[in-house]
Amino acid sequence: MTDPKKLFLKTYGCQMNVYDSERMAEAMAVEGYVLTEVAEDADLVLLNTCHIREKASEKLYSDLGRLRPLKAAKPGMKIGVAGCVAQAEGAEIKRRMPLVDLVVGSQAYHRLPAMVRGIGSMVDTDFPVEDKFDLLPTRTGSRGPVAFLTVQEGCDKFCAFCVVPYTRGAEVSRPVARILDEARGLVSKGVRDITLLGQNVNAYHGSGPGEDWTLARLLRELAQIDGLARLRYTTSHPNDMHDDLIAAHGDLSELMPYLHLPVQSGSDRILRAMNRKHTVAQYLETVARIKEARPDILLSSDFIVGFPGETDQDFEDTLALIREVGFGAAYSFKYSPRPGTPAAEKAEVASATADARLQRLQALITSQQRAAQESMVGRVVSVLYEKAGRMPDQMVGKSDHLQAVHVTDKAGRVGELVQVRILASSSNSLAGERISA
Ligand code: 5AD
Ligand code: SF4
Repeated sequence: MTDPKKLFLKTYGCQMNVYDSERMAEAMAVEGYVLTEVAEDADLVLLNTCHIREKASEKLYSDLGRLRPLKAAKPGMKIGVAGCVAQAEGAEIKRRMPLVDLVVGSQAYHRLPAMVRGIGSMVDTDFPVEDKFDLLPTRTGSRGPVAFLTVQEGCDKFCAFCVVPYTRGAEVSRPVARILDEARGLVSKGVRDITLLGQNVNAYHGSGPGEDWTLARLLRELAQIDGLARLRYTTSHPNDMHDDLIAAHGDLSELMPYLHLPVQSGSDRILRAMNRKHTVAQYLETVARIKEARPDILLSSDFIVGFPGETDQDFEDTLALIREVGFGAAYSFKYSPRPGTPAAEKAEVASATADARLQRLQALITSQQRAAQESMVGRVVSVLYEKAGRMPDQMVGKSDHLQAVHVTDKAGRVGELVQVRILASSSNSLAGERISA
């Protein structure tokens, strides 16, 4: 028997890329490839790239540079670039880095096995009409209790700073039946917590029995699957938080009390320049309705600081919004001009000013995150075990609010959903003891 071929897969960027990488690994498993953690051993190296900020795409070229001696030592090695940089730059990547054998855009992954076999074009950045996931093998791998499931891709919102509408294309929703099949398959392999993914997940409108389904209706259907204990979804746009979805947060015990609802800025002037199509007051009104439906919900957001034209006052307004909403988590970024987006034409805020603002914003978020965590001490929370901890008799998992929890438990098993009394809060996690049998 010959040794199986080896695939080294590196994933940059968002959860959507993590999901895509898993699907690509499964497609290549059908071709006889097993995953390796060691790039030197690989017959195929795949870099699944991210284009959202400048630093993310620069990493690709430095990583490719590091692969050069490896490929020289192993001439049969193939190198492929996938993801959003592949989509945006296409053949340019091969021109700039001749060691790259194939470039596969984020909508063409079903073509990957043929490309690796050397069939057809070695650059594919088409936006095909068919669902790439239907043309990939069904999900097979053994897995832990937590999984992502992509239900929607692309975006029609065109925020002035963002490349996603260009790299992932127009908004497309997968049909309901395919999603339900995939979810049932995951649950039959032991998954108990599914996060639905989409660049604009709450704009979901997939075809299903009857008419187009909303995300709320899809969540209600998924909640019926026996053994599926937890549902989440990300990322949402504030303008698509419709009444039926907010109501689902009140009605569905499976829908976890954590919502990532990016606002980007707390200044109406900047929101308008960003083409976000909502005001601060409208965002606050949406948040109020969500909190009414689910009072214990923990909200998180994305923020961009130093967007062109952002003044000190605009930034202070953002800090005020963070305090008012009480975000318990957030991702924050210094604005990075992306070629081809409208904002890239505008004069930038001085880099040092943006750095200083980012630091202040992150300090505020950290303090609110700690406070949200500390408020759990003394309470009993549900924890889904994901792995054994580093200490003896310890398990690690997530709470309903997506907080990491270290649990003292002599007999814990991965995949168990248990009740835990929280005893302490440290910088990034909670600690507690199991109280249920
Ligand atoms: N510069 C900085 N941050 C950006 N994001 C998107 N585009 C840019 C950019 N050009 C951030 C937004 C978005 C998150 C995924 O990345 O906050 O919500
Ligand atoms: Fe980008 Fe999100 Fe705006 Fe779409 S809604 S353009 S993905 S930031």
